[in-house]
Amino acid sequence: MNKTSVFDCSLIELDKHHHEKGNISIVENGKDVPFDINRVYYLYDIPGGEDRGAHAHKDLRQLIIAASGSFDIVLDDGNVKRSITLNRPYIGLLVVPGIWRELINFSSGSICMVLASHKYDEDDYIRDYNEFQVLKK
Ligand code: TYD
Repeated sequence: MNKTSVFDCSLIELDKHHHEKGNISIVENGKDVPFDINRVYYLYDIPGGEDRGAHAHKDLRQLIIAASGSFDIVLDDGNVKRSITLNRPYIGLLVVPGIWRELINFSSGSICMVLASHKYDEDDYIRDYNEFQVLKK
């Protein structure tokens, strides 16, 4: 299991173009993210008080963006926990492999957009926290 730490996860400021009619932010492979994007998915219509995540990935790298609204991401490397609020559509949180993450405190109507390095693979998930802790030792 990857010996990554929560401090390997970082905020990335994306291109932001201001227009009178609204803003636009752009993410391009090989320019704005340190991996090739093979999948995009987004969480929306999240009921009040609901949490998401609560798993780690073995190989997947992700850029998580609050495309609308806000939420908190609690990162955990088995040793240190770090909480980050995302509330700007032009800021992405790079989450490296081997990090347990929980997404909490979704604001009403928020959208969590995730750019991912690989296609969906359930075998890449660690969904049991005890197993995660053992693997990180
Ligand atoms: P999961 O990644 O556990 O959601 P979250 O971390 O947002 O709480 O995925 C929830 C369900 O959706 C799970 O049963 C698998 C399915 N899913 C796919 O089929 N493809 C995907 O790309 C993703 C991200 C999830």
